[in-house]
Amino acid sequence: MTIDQNLTGQLSAAPSIIGNGKGAVPIDACLQRMGSGFMASETQGNSAKVLIVDDEKIILDLTSIILKNRGYTTFTALDASAGIELVRNARPDLVLLDYMMPGIDGLTALKKIRKEFPDTYVIMFTGKGSEEIAVDLMKAGASDYVLKPFNNQDLVERIENVLRIRAMEINNRDLLRKLAALGYLSAGMAHEIRNPLNSISLFVQLLKSGVEDKEKVEYFDKIFKEIDRIDGIMRKLLDASKRQKYELTAVSIDLLLDATLEVFKPQTELHNITVERDYRRIPPPIQADPSEIEQIFTNLFLNAIHEMPDNGKLAVELDHDGHTIAIRVSDSGKGIPRENLSNIFDPFFSTKSSGSGMGLALVRRIVNTYQGKIEVEKSDNTGTTFCVKLPLPSG
Ligand SMILES: Nc1ncnc2c1ncn2[C@@H]1O[C@H](COP(=O)(O)OP(=O)(O)O)[C@@H](O)[C@H]1O
Ligand SMILES: [Mg+2]
Repeated sequence: MTIDQNLTGQLSAAPSIIGNGKGAVPIDACLQRMGSGFMASETQGNSAKVLIVDDEKIILDLTSIILKNRGYTTFTALDASAGIELVRNARPDLVLLDYMMPGIDGLTALKKIRKEFPDTYVIMFTGKGSEEIAVDLMKAGASDYVLKPFNNQDLVERIENVLRIRAMEINNRDLLRKLAALGYLSAGMAHEIRNPLNSISLFVQLLKSGVEDKEKVEYFDKIFKEIDRIDGIMRKLLDASKRQKYELTAVSIDLLLDATLEVFKPQTELHNITVERDYRRIPPPIQADPSEIEQIFTNLFLNAIHEMPDNGKLAVELDHDGHTIAIRVSDSGKGIPRENLSNIFDPFFSTKSSGSGMGLALVRRIVNTYQGKIEVEKSDNTGTTFCVKLPLPSG
């Protein structure tokens, strides 16, 4: 029987001090030292995933019990490399990471986790006397550190704090991303509204030209005033949300596709996705902002990969006919339901629990900027193909 099974049900509290630095506390002694039970409310409301990495088994087991009692989902690892593997597979929200461990040390593991999995936050366990190391740990990306032996109430409070900060930071980052996308989209919308507004203004002028009735002339003037007002609002919107700084250079689509696919390599490998490139005819470079074109591919690849969590095929086809470049991105996912096809390019349309719904809207916006076209060429239960067409300069 594992310690967890042994204790489930009867454990309403856990020892208040865990980890004496020597790792020699018998489990029974610890259990006897348990104080009063946790309040019922304290055991609710935490669904966060916490990974504990420590080479002292007793610390692992007891910390895990304390956190499970609080409603957390816990994972444990006895060394850093097993820990990093668990981070990769389970994507915990938080890691409690021991500083002193055989094999990969805590600092190295901390740096690796923070670099590769920025959404996973880390609290370090350090031994007494290593306070000066704490500065290095915080610099290396730790959110907090806890001195061993620690008081479990204190530990839980620190965990809750770090998780609260994490949620806020992630939320802020998502909001900023949405705002940037929204700014970009509203610039496009303002532009598109001003065009028909111009026509309205011209036709009203035509209508007004033959009219002598004083009252009717007044009506026309009112219409002009309102048109001016809309135009003013649109101009302000355009000024406030200009297309982000862009720089046109010669962009080789094939090289940019290669580079973008390279960025996605860890993800495709993680999800067992085979990448197939079929560059039929390599188009000449086009004048474009590489980061905008890359954004098109990034958003399409992200969506494709999302549809293939276990395995699949991401196929990228490139071709041109001297006038138009065609880039096809295909996945072997489950396809887009027919009823969604007319909405997928709309801002904020998403079928994902944490989707922004901005990906395809932004793709379409960028494609339009380059006088291109994007469409779903195929979508059924064998997968989806998006086709992006970009014009080549004539001559
Ligand atoms: N390759 C795809 N396969 C199936 N559905 C897709 C694919 N790409 C996009 N979609 C659908 O279009 C919606 C909008 O996509 P997008 O604008 O990128 O926003 P998000 O990815 O944030 O949901 C997705 O939520 C999904 O329903
Ligand atoms: Mg998307």
